[in-house]
Amino acid sequence: MKILVIHGPNLQLLGKREPDVYGSKTLKEIDTDIRARAKSLGATATVVQSNSEGAIVDRIGSAPGKYDALIINPGAYTHTSVAIRDAIAGSGITAVEVHLSNTAAREEFRHRSLTAHVCRGVIAGFGPLGYLLAVEALVGGETDE
Ligand code: DQA
Repeated sequence: MKILVIHGPNLQLLGKREPDVYGSKTLKEIDTDIRARAKSLGATATVVQSNSEGAIVDRIGSAPGKYDALIINPGAYTHTSVAIRDAIAGSGITAVEVHLSNTAAREEFRHRSLTAHVCRGVIAGFGPLGYLLAVEALVGGETDE
């Protein structure tokens, strides 16, 4: 299974950005762990980060045929982006939405996700472990279903 992992805006700042909310691991460390977990399960993970909504839409649009599944943390676009929502729906790709923080326990404007509706599932509040759980859900789902 080939998995595309997309980190949205400001996630390149992990480690420095609000560590009380997002933890102290850098994106590079998180990505190393994601690739290792995928490999240990016989899958591959390609990881990208972008601050640009259009670039994320392009990435999702070109994923079918190249990747079997998507793990996406759309960052703040989670709460605003009809374009990313439509890209996921239009791609037909199985997607898991991940958030480091528990968005339901934060400010009201973070409670609504436009993208969750078109994802297979959502994992939020477990920090970087959420990405690894998403990999396991996708790879496990492939064998169970
Ligand atoms: C986030 C939660 C979003 O509300 C926020 O805008 C982010 C990070 C998370 O991983 O907890 O940038 O997606």
